[in-house]
Amino acid sequence: QQGDPVEAPAFLAASYACQRNTPQPGHNTLLTAALSVLAESAELNGDEGRGLAFRRSEGLLRSLDRRVQGLAELRGLPCLGDHSRRVIQDLLENGVSSEVEETKSSPRYKAMKLLTGIFGVGVKTAKRWFTEGICSLAQLETSGHSLNAAQQAGLKYYTDLNQPVSREEADAVSVMVEGVVHSVLPGARVTLAGGFRRGKMSGHDVDFLITHPDEGKEEGLIHKIIACLESRGLLLYQQNTRNTYRESAKGAGRPSSSMDRFERCFSIFKLTNDSSPEDTRRAQQDPERVRVEADQTGSGGRPWRAVRVDLVVSPISQFAFALLGWTGSKLFERETRRWAVRERSMSLSSHALYDRNQERYLRASSEEEIFAHLGLEYVSPTGRNA
Ligand code: GTP
Ligand code: MN
Ligand code: MN
Repeated sequence: QQGDPVEAPAFLAASYACQRNTPQPGHNTLLTAALSVLAESAELNGDEGRGLAFRRSEGLLRSLDRRVQGLAELRGLPCLGDHSRRVIQDLLENGVSSEVEETKSSPRYKAMKLLTGIFGVGVKTAKRWFTEGICSLAQLETSGHSLNAAQQAGLKYYTDLNQPVSREEADAVSVMVEGVVHSVLPGARVTLAGGFRRGKMSGHDVDFLITHPDEGKEEGLIHKIIACLESRGLLLYQQNTRNTYRESAKGAGRPSSSMDRFERCFSIFKLTNDSSPEDTRRAQQDPERVRVEADQTGSGGRPWRAVRVDLVVSPISQFAFALLGWTGSKLFERETRRWAVRERSMSLSSHALYDRNQERYLRASSEEEIFAHLGLEYVSPTGRNA
């Protein structure tokens, strides 16, 4: 038995993730990784409620400012249900959780993870395929299923897209995106969002939010950006949607699903290793290192690799909301929205904040103002890794 429950002071923690500062990677990665597997397994089973419960437990442990050594230290803490506590106890006492190990090695979990790891394949589709006995990419390819364009691209670049994007690669993509955006609309602003804005060192994609200080100038921008990217040969795949957002008198600023309605583009970039000024500079200083990296870039020894990139265009009047919504983490977003509804009678989306009591929209030009409207202490992006 490690630690002394009597001496160890109890942790203090608020129950909503948006009330806590959650830096990366946290002090309890053994525990959070295990709970993340159980959350993911529930999500892959289509059990959203159970998934969310594990995500909340995981989020709470991520926010703790020191390593947990005994279950007693967690007494009185919110978000930790009996099931999570049992798993934590196993991990603290035995270093492993049999439930987590069994989950990870179950054929269903492995197949569902593999299939949903294909860009364009969601839980529903993967479930249908798994039910038909498809457990591998090879089986999928010979199954005769017709794949849509996104899934075809997902399969084609499977290895690249499942290799984490590094900070350095994200910076190289930033240079590409900024160059293109400024060439099609001078004065437009490009902001890195998603996990990299939260200070993560790697991610599954690179997320950008694009706006222009003059409202309206951003309209139709996504098409110009795509045309320019294509003319420069930088796109392997793209799927774009136009902006369908309208404020309504009844405060339906909150879209029905978690999807927002901005102009946007889910894409796959072709990232060559000479694609940023930084690389050019490095190539001059240390040609050997760059050459070695070039050999490792992409699969099959090509001098480029595929990277998932999300581009979102927001009017400046909605930019603060879009930035908050696209910075994440996913749990932090969900919790902020849950806080807004339950504690403040407000609906928050990536477009707007609506006060149901006052029956009006609350404007904001910075994330700080949104937190203030919500009566929440400001949490900086690097503290949103719930
Ligand atoms: P990694 O990319 O895995 O490193 O993590 P991430 O936090 O960047 O995740 P992701 O790129 O999936 O999403 C970034 C943020 O954008 C998260 O807060 C998501 O909730 C949000 N997001 C992603 N897709 C959508 C969408 O369709 N609509 C809205 N409103 N938000 C989205
Ligand atoms: Mn991301
Ligand atoms: Mn993304």
